[in-house]
Amino acid sequence: MSTQRESFHRTTVRDFARLKQSRTKFVMLTAYDALWGQLLDECELPAILVGDSLAMVVQGHENTIPVTLDEMIYHARLVTRVVRRAMVVVDIPFPGCFTGTDSALKQAAKILKQTKAQAVKLEGGAEQAEVIAGLVKAGIPVMAHVGLRPQSVHQLGGYLVQRAGDQLLRDATAAADAGAFAVVLECIPRDIAGAITRQVAIPTIGIGAGPECDGQILVTQDLLGLTSGRIPKFVRPYAQLRGQVVDAVRRFQQDVQSAEFPGPEETFE
Ligand code: KIV
Repeated sequence: MSTQRESFHRTTVRDFARLKQSRTKFVMLTAYDALWGQLLDECELPAILVGDSLAMVVQGHENTIPVTLDEMIYHARLVTRVVRRAMVVVDIPFPGCFTGTDSALKQAAKILKQTKAQAVKLEGGAEQAEVIAGLVKAGIPVMAHVGLRPQSVHQLGGYLVQRAGDQLLRDATAAADAGAFAVVLECIPRDIAGAITRQVAIPTIGIGAGPECDGQILVTQDLLGLTSGRIPKFVRPYAQLRGQVVDAVRRFQQDVQSAEFPGPEETFE
């Protein structure tokens, strides 16, 4: 049996440390299936996130809370099947990391075993330090997520900018001290995110946290203008694909109705 595959260097936690040391800015995006996993891997991103945002983007829920561990695993498997270069990071869905270290460890291990992803992400800082340390001790790379934590949207009272500077710094520092290899900073004013970035030894990855973070992450569908409805202030759409999709489908429909499609080029004689 041939096991030949083109071999690429896969991003590791050591590469993340180097990005921080060399002050190299980097980008992460989300993927939930093989099509987008492959496209993003072609762009040579250091890491791809199978985010629990798939609850909203793919499943049509109002927030990220309903997505289950098995659903996250299903989507992560679609991504890892094709991604060769990027580190694939998978979100532990609600309430995963709030159920104690043993339970979080079981869920993280299930993710790594069943998806072949390289790392997990969990929402939380200081209050999750013990869980992060437990996973790291078991050899599982952990990306932490502080600031606006969408899994706690009901308790936070909405998707609001988080301004408690001292607490946010404590959260990011606790995550780094517990062994996280990187930390997502979501919806934090730029001066607080900048101070955290200068003070913690691990890379910070901002989403609505200003330009001083070491890296930036967005939801791919937001970046490409595929999302409907109100888009957050921190998103810059680099394309308007939603309009293009609707236009293409409408033109196809019109051409079929006017017998323009299929034409001789698309027909077998
Ligand atoms: O679930 C997600 O997609 C995320 C990011 C956008 C940071 O957590």
